[in-house]
Amino acid sequence: MGKTTLAALLVLRLAARGLTPVLAVDADPNSCLDLALGLPAPGSVGALREEAREAKGMSKHEFLEYRLAECLAEGDDFDLLAMGRPEGPGCYCFANSVLRDLTSKVAGRYPHVVLDNEAGLENLSRRLAPSVDLLILASDPSARGLATAARIRGLAAELGILAARTALAVNRLTLPLSDTARALAGDLDADFLLELPEDAALAALDREGAPLTALPGHNALVRAVDQFLDRILSPNP
Ligand SMILES: Nc1ncnc2c1ncn2[C@@H]1O[C@H](COP(=O)(O)OP(=O)(O)OP(=O)(O)O)[C@@H](O)[C@H]1O
Ligand SMILES: [Mg+2]
Repeated sequence: MGKTTLAALLVLRLAARGLTPVLAVDADPNSCLDLALGLPAPGSVGALREEAREAKGMSKHEFLEYRLAECLAEGDDFDLLAMGRPEGPGCYCFANSVLRDLTSKVAGRYPHVVLDNEAGLENLSRRLAPSVDLLILASDPSARGLATAARIRGLAAELGILAARTALAVNRLTLPLSDTARALAGDLDADFLLELPEDAALAALDREGAPLTALPGHNALVRAVDQFLDRILSPNP
């Protein structure tokens, strides 16, 4: 819960620090990271099918270059690659593999890459990123949400998705974390705990469909993300 919001805020606040350009990757076909970032929606990675590539006589390399030109939305401080909604049923595997190829092709050009993943366990197995510096598990403060986060962490380990570090983001807090929630969070043994408050300004932007760029620097969510970045970017966390 709050994955897209947190991904967008991380991109915007990395950019605010001048750690540019940031690459944002929207790996959720149902997500709207473009809206949250205020970038025009890029072309859909999965729109052109494998058969089309072969019919056009393109090599895989040419195909990826061609997709990249269409699918990378460029902003001033950050760019966005989005999976989009593949055309037709059964195309998700292809869209995923193209997004994975494009991401690994360009990731090295960016000091920081933020990937917004789909909810649930199953798509972790698609291994969109070749390596992960920080895996952030997002949950609400409920015991059920935190138990799911623990399961996802276990699954990631089983799948061999080895993140150098792990963070737990507990979002939409209206009260301080309960003792139960704190104990469950502790069981997860994450390197970082990020507590994000319920935020009325975000809810208002959401109603308008406005990008998160409109949140002021003194907003509580923005400050929490800034403090989190201080910690994860510090050489001695
Ligand atoms: N801290 C918060 N305060 C107020 N509203 C919030 C907060 N976090 C998220 N929301 C709202 O909750 C909704 C879901 O958030 P978001 O899209 O970030 O979640 P998600 O985990 O990406 O969801 P999905 O699984 O659908 O991709 C959005 O409308 C968002 O604006
Ligand atoms: Mg989302």
